[in-house]
Amino acid sequence: MNFNVAVIPGDGIGPEIVNEARKVLDAVGAKYGHTFNYTEVLMGGVSIDAHGVPLTDEALATAKASDAVLLGAVGGRVGIDKWYELPPNLRPEAGLLAIRKGLGLFANLRPAYLYNELKAACPLKESVADAGFDMMVVRELTGGLYFGERKTEEVNGVMTAIDTLKYDENEIRRIAIKAFDIARKRSNKVISVDKANVLDSSRLWQKVVNEVAKDYPDVTLEHMLVDNCAMQLVKDPSQFDVILTENMFGDILSDEASMITGSIGMLSSASLAEGKFGLYEPSHGAAPDIAGKNIANPIATILSAAMMLRYSFDLDKEANAIEDAIKSLLADGYRTVDIMSEGMKQVSCSEMGDLICERV
Ligand code: IPM
Ligand code: MG
Repeated sequence: MNFNVAVIPGDGIGPEIVNEARKVLDAVGAKYGHTFNYTEVLMGGVSIDAHGVPLTDEALATAKASDAVLLGAVGGRVGIDKWYELPPNLRPEAGLLAIRKGLGLFANLRPAYLYNELKAACPLKESVADAGFDMMVVRELTGGLYFGERKTEEVNGVMTAIDTLKYDENEIRRIAIKAFDIARKRSNKVISVDKANVLDSSRLWQKVVNEVAKDYPDVTLEHMLVDNCAMQLVKDPSQFDVILTENMFGDILSDEASMITGSIGMLSSASLAEGKFGLYEPSHGAAPDIAGKNIANPIATILSAAMMLRYSFDLDKEANAIEDAIKSLLADGYRTVDIMSEGMKQVSCSEMGDLICERV
């Protein structure tokens, strides 16, 4: 089959890691008889340099016209890169928020999985790491504090800033349905995370999630307060399967979940719209300090490409081939520098890409 993929290399290590993901997609295409046509799109700092804005209308339209989007990373160094002298709505990260909203990417899937081979890198104590974990954070991505009205103004001579946390029942319902559907393909357990002891938006969240749960009698539902969840993630991460939560909580908890895997360089993510369309990107950022050195870990981006095959193109067999190739390379001791340990074989970004191509 033929697929049109909009590719956004972005900033920092973005171009290097996206390049490896394209190589792997092409290797999969050659083996299984698919063609991926790529259209490059500018976003983030590189778009600011070229067009003065982090995402142009044309770039958004190109992404929209594709079957799926593959993204590297955007952003630079605050205080060093001149992009951060611009007003907040013109900085690289604003491009990311604009594309999420513009493409209707309301469901952000962030898997956090502890590889057996990388257990030593887990910062939790051995008995906790030994139990292992495999969770999926399902984060609402186009509502809440990120997109509510905000302003900074002087009120009675006092500088005052306001951000608004707003959710309607439809926004909650569609992300809850996504989470329950995903739980069905995993271990049939959803933990919905909120702050219902304080926030109205969380009380509505609980009510709607309970309604959705009625359609999934085979899936267990538990509600957990966000502060408790932060604690449970380091105390006993093995209790989690699907974590369903709103935008801001999901931002914070997904970073926590990624940290306990030992390497953010391994974690993929998908941001899905209604239907099959999605944007796929590593969970990590642009890492400008190591850009251009061919030492970045491309695995998160390559696993994101695998998610693209699975969720947007229904190519499960091909996605498995990528995931299995990566597991076998780890088992054989191949490591990029971020996950390197004694006795292992250190490889560069492009060598890791080549090895994965050979094994798909
Ligand atoms: C993420 C990032 C973004 C977010 C930033 C860069 C705006 O932290 O994807 O988690 O907060 O959503
Ligand atoms: Mg974040």
